[in-house]
Amino acid sequence: MTQAKPAVYTNISAAQLVEEAVLRGEGTLADTGALVVKTGHRTGRSPADRFIVQEASTEAHIAWGPINRPFCADKFAALWDRVEAFNNAQDHFVSHVHVGSAEAHYLPVKMTTQTAWQNLFGRCLFIEPETYNPSNKAEWQILNVANFECVPERDGTNSDGCVIINFAERKVLIAGMRYAGEMKKAMFSVQNYLLPAVDVLPMHCAANIGEEGDVSLFFGLSGTGKTTLSADESRYLIGDDEHGWGEGVVFNIEGGCYAKCIDLSEKNEPVIWKAIKFGAVLENVVLDEQRSPDYEDDSLTQNSRAAYPLTHVEKRSEKNFGGEPNAVIFLTCDLTGVLPPVSILNNEQAAYHFLSGYTALVGSTEMGSGEGIRSTFSTCFGAPFFPRPAGEYAELLIKRINAFGSKVYLVNTGWTGGGYGVGQRFNIPTTRAVIAAIQGGTLVGAETEHLPIINLDVPTSVPGVDSNLLNPRNTWADKAAYDAAAKELAAKFIDNFEKFDVSEAIKAAGPKL
Ligand code: ATP
Ligand code: OXD
Ligand code: MG
Ligand code: MN
Repeated sequence: MTQAKPAVYTNISAAQLVEEAVLRGEGTLADTGALVVKTGHRTGRSPADRFIVQEASTEAHIAWGPINRPFCADKFAALWDRVEAFNNAQDHFVSHVHVGSAEAHYLPVKMTTQTAWQNLFGRCLFIEPETYNPSNKAEWQILNVANFECVPERDGTNSDGCVIINFAERKVLIAGMRYAGEMKKAMFSVQNYLLPAVDVLPMHCAANIGEEGDVSLFFGLSGTGKTTLSADESRYLIGDDEHGWGEGVVFNIEGGCYAKCIDLSEKNEPVIWKAIKFGAVLENVVLDEQRSPDYEDDSLTQNSRAAYPLTHVEKRSEKNFGGEPNAVIFLTCDLTGVLPPVSILNNEQAAYHFLSGYTALVGSTEMGSGEGIRSTFSTCFGAPFFPRPAGEYAELLIKRINAFGSKVYLVNTGWTGGGYGVGQRFNIPTTRAVIAAIQGGTLVGAETEHLPIINLDVPTSVPGVDSNLLNPRNTWADKAAYDAAAKELAAKFIDNFEKFDVSEAIKAAGPKL
Protein backbone atom coordinates (compact mmCIF):
# COMPACT_ATOMS: atom_id res chain seq x y z
CA MET A 1 0.00 0.00 0.00
CA THR A 2 1.38 3.42 -0.84
CA GLN A 3 1.27 6.13 1.78
CA ALA A 4 -1.18 8.95 0.96
CA LYS A 5 0.58 12.20 0.23
CA PRO A 6 0.34 14.56 3.22
CA ALA A 7 -2.33 17.23 2.82
CA VAL A 8 -1.48 20.91 3.02
CA TYR A 9 -4.47 23.01 4.06
CA THR A 10 -3.91 26.59 2.93
CA ASN A 11 -5.99 29.56 4.13
CA ILE A 12 -8.97 27.37 5.03
CA SER A 13 -11.79 28.97 6.99
CA ALA A 14 -11.74 29.23 10.77
CA ALA A 15 -14.72 26.86 10.86
CA GLN A 16 -12.79 24.25 8.92
CA LEU A 17 -9.76 24.68 11.17
CA VAL A 18 -11.99 23.99 14.18
CA GLU A 19 -13.44 20.95 12.43
CA GLU A 20 -9.98 19.61 11.53
CA ALA A 21 -8.77 20.17 15.09
CA VAL A 22 -11.67 18.19 16.53
CA LEU A 23 -11.42 15.42 13.94
CA ARG A 24 -7.71 15.01 14.67
CA GLY A 25 -8.29 14.81 18.41
CA GLU A 26 -6.44 18.05 19.07
CA GLY A 27 -9.23 19.44 21.21
CA THR A 28 -12.90 19.47 22.16
CA LEU A 29 -15.71 21.99 21.96
CA ALA A 30 -16.96 23.91 24.98
CA ASP A 31 -20.66 24.73 25.28
CA THR A 32 -19.80 28.31 24.33
CA GLY A 33 -18.56 27.06 20.94
CA ALA A 34 -14.90 27.70 21.75
CA LEU A 35 -12.28 25.07 20.88
CA VAL A 36 -10.56 23.80 24.03
CA VAL A 37 -7.01 22.41 23.97
CA LYS A 38 -4.36 21.33 26.43
CA THR A 39 -0.75 22.36 25.90
CA GLY A 40 1.03 19.61 27.82
CA HIS A 41 3.89 20.23 30.19
CA ARG A 42 4.40 23.81 29.08
CA THR A 43 1.46 26.02 30.00
CA GLY A 44 3.27 29.32 29.60
CA ARG A 45 6.11 30.92 27.68
CA SER A 46 9.51 29.39 28.08
CA PRO A 47 12.16 32.14 28.23
CA ALA A 48 15.02 29.68 28.60
CA ASP A 49 14.19 28.19 25.18
CA ARG A 50 14.02 31.41 23.22
CA PHE A 51 16.93 32.49 20.99
CA ILE A 52 17.95 35.00 18.34
CA VAL A 53 20.27 33.91 15.54
CA GLN A 54 23.57 35.73 15.83
CA GLU A 55 24.45 37.25 12.46
CA ALA A 56 26.21 40.32 11.13
CA SER A 57 23.21 42.42 10.09
CA THR A 58 21.64 42.66 13.56
CA GLU A 59 24.34 41.60 16.00
CA ALA A 60 25.48 45.07 17.08
CA HIS A 61 21.95 46.26 17.90
CA ILE A 62 20.80 43.47 20.18
CA ALA A 63 21.09 43.46 23.97
CA TRP A 64 22.50 39.94 24.28
CA GLY A 65 22.08 38.18 27.59
CA PRO A 66 19.81 35.75 29.40
CA ILE A 67 16.75 37.18 27.61
CA ASN A 68 18.13 37.50 24.09
CA ARG A 69 20.20 34.33 23.83
CA PRO A 70 22.43 33.91 20.78
CA PHE A 71 21.94 30.93 18.46
CA CYS A 72 24.47 29.83 15.89
CA ALA A 73 23.39 30.47 12.26
CA ASP A 74 24.64 27.09 10.98
CA LYS A 75 22.83 25.23 13.73
CA PHE A 76 19.70 27.19 12.89
CA ALA A 77 19.90 26.24 9.20
CA ALA A 78 20.31 22.56 10.07
CA LEU A 79 17.46 22.60 12.57
CA TRP A 80 15.12 24.49 10.24
CA ASP A 81 15.69 21.88 7.52
CA ARG A 82 15.16 19.02 9.95
CA VAL A 83 11.94 20.47 11.32
CA GLU A 84 10.67 21.35 7.86
CA ALA A 85 11.33 17.85 6.52
CA PHE A 86 9.55 16.38 9.53
CA ASN A 87 6.58 18.70 9.01
CA ASN A 88 6.36 18.09 5.26
CA ALA A 89 5.98 14.38 5.89
CA GLN A 90 2.60 14.95 7.56
CA ASP A 91 -0.56 16.98 7.09
CA HIS A 92 -0.12 20.62 8.00
CA PHE A 93 -1.75 24.03 7.83
CA VAL A 94 -0.70 27.28 6.19
CA SER A 95 -2.22 30.77 6.54
CA HIS A 96 -1.13 34.11 5.19
CA VAL A 97 -1.47 36.86 7.75
CA HIS A 98 -0.17 40.30 8.64
CA VAL A 99 1.61 41.41 11.79
CA GLY A 100 1.07 45.16 12.24
CA SER A 101 -2.08 46.98 11.13
CA ALA A 102 -0.41 50.14 9.78
CA GLU A 103 0.09 50.19 5.98
CA ALA A 104 3.67 51.23 6.35
CA HIS A 105 4.56 48.77 9.08
CA TYR A 106 2.80 45.48 8.49
CA LEU A 107 4.85 42.34 7.96
CA PRO A 108 3.44 39.71 5.60
CA VAL A 109 3.79 36.32 7.26
CA LYS A 110 3.41 32.82 5.93
CA MET A 111 2.42 30.85 9.02
CA THR A 112 2.88 27.08 8.82
CA THR A 113 1.70 24.98 11.73
CA GLN A 114 1.57 21.28 12.24
CA THR A 115 -1.67 21.44 14.22
CA ALA A 116 -4.96 22.90 13.04
CA TRP A 117 -5.59 24.55 16.39
CA GLN A 118 -2.35 26.51 16.40
CA ASN A 119 -3.20 27.77 12.93
CA LEU A 120 -6.57 28.88 14.27
CA PHE A 121 -4.76 30.58 17.15
CA GLY A 122 -2.58 32.46 14.68
CA ARG A 123 -5.64 33.48 12.70
CA CYS A 124 -7.19 34.84 15.92
CA LEU A 125 -4.11 36.73 17.06
CA PHE A 126 -2.56 37.92 13.83
CA ILE A 127 -4.30 40.12 11.28
CA GLU A 128 -6.36 38.60 8.46
CA PRO A 129 -5.88 41.22 5.74
CA GLU A 130 -8.40 41.94 2.99
CA THR A 131 -5.53 41.69 0.54
CA TYR A 132 -2.41 39.81 1.53
CA ASN A 133 0.78 41.82 1.24
CA PRO A 134 -0.49 44.64 -1.00
CA SER A 135 2.88 46.42 -0.94
CA ASN A 136 4.73 43.30 -1.97
CA LYS A 137 7.09 43.36 1.02
CA ALA A 138 9.56 40.59 1.71
CA GLU A 139 7.73 37.77 3.48
CA TRP A 140 8.41 36.38 6.97
CA GLN A 141 7.89 32.71 7.69
CA ILE A 142 6.77 31.05 10.89
CA LEU A 143 7.37 27.31 11.05
CA ASN A 144 5.65 26.00 14.17
CA VAL A 145 5.83 22.23 14.58
CA ALA A 146 4.42 21.26 17.93
CA ASN A 147 5.22 17.56 17.92
CA PHE A 148 8.84 17.84 16.79
CA GLU A 149 11.13 16.93 19.65
CA CYS A 150 14.41 18.83 19.72
CA VAL A 151 17.54 17.02 20.87
CA PRO A 152 19.79 19.58 22.61
CA GLU A 153 23.08 17.77 21.81
CA ARG A 154 22.20 17.54 18.13
CA ASP A 155 20.19 20.72 17.64
CA GLY A 156 21.89 23.22 19.94
CA THR A 157 18.67 23.93 21.80
CA ASN A 158 18.20 24.19 25.56
CA SER A 159 15.55 21.47 25.79
CA ASP A 160 13.01 19.50 23.71
CA GLY A 161 11.46 22.77 22.54
CA CYS A 162 12.69 26.06 21.08
CA VAL A 163 11.67 29.44 19.72
CA ILE A 164 14.33 30.94 17.44
CA ILE A 165 14.18 34.23 15.54
CA ASN A 166 16.35 34.74 12.46
CA PHE A 167 16.23 38.39 11.32
CA ALA A 168 18.52 37.96 8.33
CA GLU A 169 16.35 35.23 6.82
CA ARG A 170 13.04 36.52 8.17
CA LYS A 171 12.26 33.21 9.83
CA VAL A 172 10.75 32.18 13.15
CA LEU A 173 11.26 28.56 14.08
CA ILE A 174 9.10 27.10 16.84
CA ALA A 175 9.56 23.42 17.54
CA GLY A 176 8.22 21.23 20.30
CA MET A 177 6.07 24.00 21.74
CA ARG A 178 2.37 23.54 22.32
CA TYR A 179 1.67 26.72 24.28
CA ALA A 180 0.60 29.00 21.43
CA GLY A 181 1.47 32.28 23.12
CA GLU A 182 5.06 31.69 21.94
CA MET A 183 3.99 32.37 18.37
CA LYS A 184 2.49 35.78 19.01
CA LYS A 185 5.30 36.85 21.31
CA ALA A 186 7.95 35.79 18.79
CA MET A 187 6.43 38.03 16.13
CA PHE A 188 6.11 40.81 18.72
CA SER A 189 9.85 40.52 19.38
CA VAL A 190 10.44 40.81 15.63
CA GLN A 191 8.46 44.06 15.43
CA ASN A 192 10.12 45.28 18.62
CA TYR A 193 13.42 45.03 16.86
CA LEU A 194 12.30 46.51 13.53
CA LEU A 195 10.04 49.42 14.51
CA PRO A 196 12.48 51.66 16.44
CA ALA A 197 14.66 51.81 13.33
CA VAL A 198 11.80 53.67 11.60
CA ASP A 199 11.04 55.92 14.58
CA VAL A 200 8.05 53.91 15.83
CA LEU A 201 7.87 52.87 19.47
CA PRO A 202 6.72 49.28 19.90
CA MET A 203 4.92 48.76 23.21
CA HIS A 204 3.75 45.93 25.45
CA CYS A 205 0.46 47.67 26.07
CA ALA A 206 -3.27 47.60 25.47
CA ALA A 207 -5.09 50.50 23.81
CA ASN A 208 -8.65 51.74 23.62
CA ILE A 209 -10.54 54.80 22.41
CA GLY A 210 -13.26 56.89 24.10
CA GLU A 211 -16.38 58.33 22.47
CA GLU A 212 -14.47 61.60 21.94
CA GLY A 213 -11.65 59.85 20.09
CA ASP A 214 -9.26 60.03 23.06
CA VAL A 215 -6.82 57.10 23.23
CA SER A 216 -5.54 55.41 26.39
CA LEU A 217 -2.55 53.08 26.58
CA PHE A 218 -2.20 50.46 29.33
CA PHE A 219 1.39 49.29 29.74
CA GLY A 220 2.18 46.39 32.04
CA LEU A 221 3.97 43.09 32.39
CA SER A 222 1.90 39.94 32.06
CA GLY A 223 -0.96 39.67 34.52
CA THR A 224 -1.09 43.33 35.49
CA GLY A 225 -4.45 43.92 33.82
CA LYS A 226 -3.93 45.15 30.24
CA THR A 227 -6.50 42.82 28.72
CA THR A 228 -8.94 43.06 31.65
CA LEU A 229 -8.96 46.84 31.91
CA SER A 230 -8.88 47.66 28.19
CA ALA A 231 -11.94 45.46 27.65
CA ASP A 232 -14.29 48.24 28.71
CA GLU A 233 -17.91 48.37 27.58
CA SER A 234 -17.81 52.16 27.52
CA ARG A 235 -14.90 52.39 25.07
CA TYR A 236 -13.70 51.05 21.72
CA LEU A 237 -10.93 48.47 21.89
CA ILE A 238 -7.89 48.80 19.64
CA GLY A 239 -6.00 45.86 21.08
CA ASP A 240 -4.98 44.18 24.33
CA ASP A 241 -1.24 43.54 24.17
CA GLU A 242 1.04 44.90 21.42
CA HIS A 243 0.99 48.31 19.71
CA GLY A 244 3.19 50.70 17.81
CA TRP A 245 3.25 54.48 18.47
CA GLY A 246 4.38 56.56 15.53
CA GLU A 247 3.84 60.24 14.83
CA GLY A 248 0.07 60.74 14.73
CA VAL A 249 -0.89 57.12 15.28
CA VAL A 250 -1.18 54.23 17.71
CA PHE A 251 -1.68 51.04 15.75
CA ASN A 252 -2.29 47.46 16.78
CA ILE A 253 0.36 44.91 15.92
CA GLU A 254 -2.23 42.15 16.27
CA GLY A 255 -5.75 41.30 15.16
CA GLY A 256 -7.02 39.57 18.29
CA CYS A 257 -6.77 39.18 22.05
CA TYR A 258 -5.24 36.66 24.43
CA ALA A 259 -7.01 36.90 27.77
CA LYS A 260 -6.12 35.25 31.02
CA CYS A 261 -9.09 33.15 32.09
CA ILE A 262 -8.38 32.35 35.70
CA ASP A 263 -11.44 33.29 37.80
CA LEU A 264 -13.01 35.00 34.77
CA SER A 265 -16.49 36.27 35.61
CA GLU A 266 -19.26 37.64 33.42
CA LYS A 267 -19.85 40.40 35.95
CA ASN A 268 -16.30 41.79 36.14
CA GLU A 269 -15.14 40.97 32.60
CA PRO A 270 -18.25 40.92 30.37
CA VAL A 271 -16.45 41.83 27.12
CA ILE A 272 -14.02 38.91 27.44
CA TRP A 273 -16.76 36.57 28.61
CA LYS A 274 -18.86 37.25 25.49
CA ALA A 275 -15.87 36.91 23.14
CA ILE A 276 -15.30 33.27 24.12
CA LYS A 277 -17.53 31.73 21.46
CA PHE A 278 -17.16 29.72 18.25
CA GLY A 279 -13.87 30.68 16.60
CA ALA A 280 -12.12 31.28 19.94
CA VAL A 281 -9.48 28.94 21.37
CA LEU A 282 -9.26 28.09 25.08
CA GLU A 283 -5.90 26.82 26.32
CA ASN A 284 -5.79 24.73 29.48
CA VAL A 285 -9.28 25.63 30.62
CA VAL A 286 -11.07 22.78 32.41
CA LEU A 287 -14.61 21.87 31.32
CA ASP A 288 -17.31 20.37 33.52
CA GLU A 289 -19.50 17.40 32.41
CA GLN A 290 -21.82 19.78 30.58
CA ARG A 291 -18.81 21.16 28.68
CA SER A 292 -19.06 24.49 30.48
CA PRO A 293 -15.72 26.14 31.21
CA ASP A 294 -14.85 26.15 34.90
CA TYR A 295 -12.64 29.20 35.02
CA GLU A 296 -11.90 28.72 38.69
CA ASP A 297 -10.28 25.36 38.10
CA ASP A 298 -6.51 25.90 38.01
CA SER A 299 -5.60 22.23 38.02
CA LEU A 300 -3.83 22.59 34.64
CA THR A 301 -2.38 26.05 35.28
CA GLN A 302 -3.04 29.53 36.65
CA ASN A 303 -2.26 30.72 33.13
CA SER A 304 -5.36 29.42 31.33
CA ARG A 305 -6.01 31.54 28.24
CA ALA A 306 -8.60 32.52 25.66
CA ALA A 307 -7.60 33.61 22.16
CA TYR A 308 -10.20 35.34 20.02
CA PRO A 309 -10.25 37.72 17.04
CA LEU A 310 -11.15 41.38 17.56
CA THR A 311 -14.33 40.75 15.59
CA HIS A 312 -15.60 38.99 18.73
CA VAL A 313 -15.53 42.35 20.52
CA GLU A 314 -18.55 44.44 19.64
CA LYS A 315 -17.08 47.85 20.45
CA ARG A 316 -13.75 48.04 18.66
CA SER A 317 -11.85 50.51 16.50
CA GLU A 318 -12.83 50.02 12.87
CA LYS A 319 -9.33 50.24 11.44
CA ASN A 320 -7.36 48.67 14.26
CA PHE A 321 -5.62 51.95 15.08
CA GLY A 322 -6.25 55.31 16.70
CA GLY A 323 -4.58 58.65 17.36
CA GLU A 324 -1.85 59.41 19.88
CA PRO A 325 -2.70 58.77 23.54
CA ASN A 326 -4.05 61.38 25.94
CA ALA A 327 -3.46 58.94 28.80
CA VAL A 328 -0.49 56.64 29.27
CA ILE A 329 -1.11 54.25 32.14
CA PHE A 330 1.63 52.09 33.63
CA LEU A 331 0.06 49.10 35.36
CA THR A 332 1.97 47.47 38.17
CA CYS A 333 0.95 44.59 40.37
CA ASP A 334 2.58 45.47 43.68
CA LEU A 335 2.80 42.65 46.18
CA THR A 336 4.21 44.75 49.00
CA GLY A 337 1.14 46.94 49.52
CA VAL A 338 3.38 50.00 49.41
CA LEU A 339 2.27 51.58 46.13
CA PRO A 340 -0.90 53.66 45.90
CA PRO A 341 -3.75 52.72 43.54
CA VAL A 342 -2.86 55.70 41.35
CA SER A 343 -0.03 58.23 41.11
CA ILE A 344 0.39 61.10 38.69
CA LEU A 345 3.83 61.02 37.04
CA ASN A 346 5.89 63.82 35.54
CA ASN A 347 8.18 63.06 32.58
CA GLU A 348 11.20 62.12 34.67
CA GLN A 349 9.10 59.82 36.84
CA ALA A 350 7.65 58.32 33.65
CA ALA A 351 11.13 57.55 32.34
CA TYR A 352 12.20 56.18 35.73
CA HIS A 353 9.25 53.84 36.09
CA PHE A 354 9.30 52.71 32.45
CA LEU A 355 12.94 51.67 32.79
CA SER A 356 12.32 50.10 36.20
CA GLY A 357 9.21 48.17 35.17
CA TYR A 358 8.47 47.18 38.75
CA THR A 359 5.72 44.60 39.18
CA ALA A 360 5.15 41.00 40.20
CA LEU A 361 5.32 37.75 38.29
CA VAL A 362 1.82 36.35 38.70
CA GLY A 363 -0.25 33.64 37.11
CA SER A 364 2.61 31.45 35.86
CA THR A 365 2.81 33.11 32.43
CA GLU A 366 6.46 32.04 32.26
CA MET A 367 7.70 28.50 32.73
CA GLY A 368 10.65 28.15 35.06
CA SER A 369 9.98 31.35 36.99
CA GLY A 370 9.17 29.29 40.06
CA GLU A 371 5.97 28.53 41.89
CA GLY A 372 3.89 31.25 43.40
CA ILE A 373 4.27 34.94 42.94
CA ARG A 374 7.17 37.32 43.48
CA SER A 375 8.28 40.86 42.79
CA THR A 376 10.33 41.65 39.73
CA PHE A 377 11.68 44.49 37.63
CA SER A 378 11.07 44.12 33.90
CA THR A 379 12.29 47.00 31.74
CA CYS A 380 9.69 48.53 29.41
CA PHE A 381 7.11 46.40 31.29
CA GLY A 382 8.05 43.54 29.01
CA ALA A 383 11.78 42.80 29.08
CA PRO A 384 11.35 39.29 27.60
CA PHE A 385 10.16 40.74 24.28
CA PHE A 386 12.59 43.59 23.61
CA PRO A 387 15.74 42.78 21.64
CA ARG A 388 17.31 46.23 21.78
CA PRO A 389 18.78 47.96 24.85
CA ALA A 390 15.96 49.33 27.07
CA GLY A 391 17.25 52.89 26.81
CA GLU A 392 16.34 53.04 23.11
CA TYR A 393 12.70 52.35 23.87
CA ALA A 394 12.64 54.71 26.86
CA GLU A 395 14.03 57.59 24.81
CA LEU A 396 11.47 57.07 22.11
CA LEU A 397 8.66 56.91 24.68
CA ILE A 398 9.65 60.18 26.32
CA LYS A 399 10.02 61.83 22.92
CA ARG A 400 6.48 60.79 21.95
CA ILE A 401 4.99 61.76 25.33
CA ASN A 402 6.60 65.20 25.12
CA ALA A 403 5.61 65.81 21.53
CA PHE A 404 1.97 64.91 22.06
CA GLY A 405 1.59 66.04 25.67
CA SER A 406 0.30 62.71 26.99
CA LYS A 407 -0.40 62.45 30.74
CA VAL A 408 1.25 59.54 32.51
CA TYR A 409 -0.08 57.59 35.52
CA LEU A 410 1.15 54.67 37.60
CA VAL A 411 -1.75 52.39 38.56
CA ASN A 412 -1.32 49.61 41.09
CA THR A 413 -3.59 46.63 40.37
CA GLY A 414 -1.89 44.64 43.13
CA TRP A 415 -2.15 44.58 46.88
CA THR A 416 -3.08 47.06 49.57
CA GLY A 417 -3.77 46.95 53.31
CA GLY A 418 -0.51 45.28 54.32
CA GLY A 419 0.46 43.56 51.08
CA TYR A 420 0.21 40.01 49.80
CA GLY A 421 -0.82 37.49 52.43
CA VAL A 422 -2.04 40.21 54.81
CA GLY A 423 -4.21 42.63 52.85
CA GLN A 424 -6.22 42.23 49.66
CA ARG A 425 -5.79 42.89 45.96
CA PHE A 426 -7.54 46.02 44.70
CA ASN A 427 -10.79 44.78 43.28
CA ILE A 428 -11.53 45.22 39.60
CA PRO A 429 -14.36 47.80 40.09
CA THR A 430 -11.98 50.00 42.14
CA THR A 431 -9.31 49.86 39.48
CA ARG A 432 -11.91 50.52 36.79
CA ALA A 433 -13.01 53.64 38.72
CA VAL A 434 -9.38 54.83 38.80
CA ILE A 435 -9.08 54.28 35.06
CA ALA A 436 -12.38 56.06 34.41
CA ALA A 437 -11.15 59.07 36.41
CA ILE A 438 -7.94 59.17 34.38
CA GLN A 439 -9.82 58.92 31.11
CA GLY A 440 -12.39 61.49 32.16
CA GLY A 441 -9.59 64.01 32.78
CA THR A 442 -10.52 64.33 36.47
CA LEU A 443 -6.92 63.89 37.63
CA VAL A 444 -5.38 66.58 35.42
CA GLY A 445 -4.38 69.38 37.76
CA ALA A 446 -6.06 67.61 40.71
CA GLU A 447 -5.03 68.30 44.29
CA THR A 448 -2.27 65.86 45.26
CA GLU A 449 -0.44 64.57 48.29
CA HIS A 450 3.28 63.72 48.13
CA LEU A 451 4.31 60.32 49.43
CA PRO A 452 7.89 60.37 50.70
CA ILE A 453 10.23 57.38 50.35
CA ILE A 454 8.49 56.04 47.25
CA ASN A 455 8.49 59.62 45.97
CA LEU A 456 5.10 59.64 44.27
CA ASP A 457 2.23 62.10 44.07
CA VAL A 458 -1.29 60.82 44.60
CA PRO A 459 -4.63 62.58 44.06
CA THR A 460 -6.50 63.30 47.30
CA SER A 461 -9.79 62.17 45.79
CA VAL A 462 -10.93 59.97 42.92
CA PRO A 463 -14.65 59.61 42.08
CA GLY A 464 -15.90 56.14 42.97
CA VAL A 465 -12.85 55.24 45.07
CA ASP A 466 -12.76 55.24 48.88
CA SER A 467 -10.39 58.15 49.68
CA ASN A 468 -8.82 56.11 52.45
CA LEU A 469 -7.29 53.83 49.83
CA LEU A 470 -5.44 56.60 48.01
CA ASN A 471 -2.57 56.87 50.48
CA PRO A 472 -1.63 53.24 51.12
CA ARG A 473 -0.20 54.05 54.55
CA ASN A 474 -3.79 54.63 55.71
CA THR A 475 -4.68 51.05 54.82
CA TRP A 476 -1.99 49.50 57.02
CA ALA A 477 -2.90 48.77 60.64
CA ASP A 478 0.75 49.14 61.63
CA LYS A 479 2.17 52.43 60.28
CA ALA A 480 5.73 51.61 61.29
CA ALA A 481 5.45 48.40 59.30
CA TYR A 482 4.34 50.41 56.28
CA ASP A 483 7.33 52.73 56.56
CA ALA A 484 9.66 49.77 56.87
CA ALA A 485 8.10 48.08 53.84
CA ALA A 486 8.32 51.32 51.85
CA LYS A 487 12.02 51.63 52.68
CA GLU A 488 12.61 48.04 51.71
CA LEU A 489 10.90 48.56 48.37
CA ALA A 490 12.74 51.86 47.78
CA ALA A 491 16.04 50.09 48.35
CA LYS A 492 15.10 47.51 45.72
CA PHE A 493 14.24 50.23 43.20
CA ILE A 494 17.52 52.03 43.85
CA ASP A 495 19.54 48.86 43.59
CA ASN A 496 17.83 47.83 40.35
CA PHE A 497 18.26 51.28 38.81
CA GLU A 498 22.04 51.37 39.20
CA LYS A 499 22.51 49.70 35.82
CA PHE A 500 20.89 52.57 33.92
CA ASP A 501 23.07 55.32 32.57
CA VAL A 502 20.59 58.21 32.50
CA SER A 503 20.39 61.86 33.54
CA GLU A 504 20.48 62.92 37.20
CA ALA A 505 16.95 64.27 36.82
CA ILE A 506 15.63 60.83 35.93
CA LYS A 507 17.60 59.14 38.71
CA ALA A 508 16.21 61.66 41.20
CA ALA A 509 12.64 60.86 40.14
CA GLY A 510 12.71 57.44 41.81
CA PRO A 511 12.16 56.31 45.40
CA LYS A 512 14.54 57.78 48.00
CA LEU A 513 15.84 56.43 51.27
P1 ATP B 1 -0.63 39.43 29.37
O1 ATP B 1 0.43 40.35 28.85
O2 ATP B 1 -0.07 38.15 29.85
O3 ATP B 1 -1.74 39.26 28.41
P2 ATP B 1 -2.36 41.22 30.93
O4 ATP B 1 -1.73 42.46 31.47
O5 ATP B 1 -3.23 41.38 29.76
O6 ATP B 1 -1.21 40.13 30.70
P3 ATP B 1 -4.73 40.29 32.23
O7 ATP B 1 -5.13 39.21 31.31
O8 ATP B 1 -5.50 41.56 32.16
O9 ATP B 1 -3.17 40.57 32.11
O10 ATP B 1 -4.72 39.68 33.69
C1 ATP B 1 -5.05 40.36 34.87
C2 ATP B 1 -5.58 39.31 35.82
O11 ATP B 1 -5.71 39.84 37.12
C3 ATP B 1 -6.96 38.83 35.40
O12 ATP B 1 -7.04 37.47 35.67
C4 ATP B 1 -7.89 39.67 36.29
O13 ATP B 1 -9.11 39.03 36.53
C5 ATP B 1 -7.06 39.76 37.57
N1 ATP B 1 -7.29 40.94 38.42
C6 ATP B 1 -7.56 40.90 39.74
N2 ATP B 1 -7.67 42.13 40.26
C7 ATP B 1 -7.45 43.00 39.25
C8 ATP B 1 -7.44 44.43 39.17
N3 ATP B 1 -7.66 45.20 40.21
N4 ATP B 1 -7.22 44.99 37.95
C9 ATP B 1 -6.98 44.22 36.88
N5 ATP B 1 -6.98 42.87 36.90
C10 ATP B 1 -7.22 42.25 38.07
C1 OXD C 1 1.42 37.42 27.02
C2 OXD C 1 2.58 37.73 27.87
O1 OXD C 1 1.23 36.24 26.69
O2 OXD C 1 2.79 38.91 28.17
O3 OXD C 1 0.70 38.34 26.62
O4 OXD C 1 3.30 36.80 28.25
MG1 MG D 1 -3.25 40.38 27.99
MN1 MN E 1 1.48 40.29 26.99
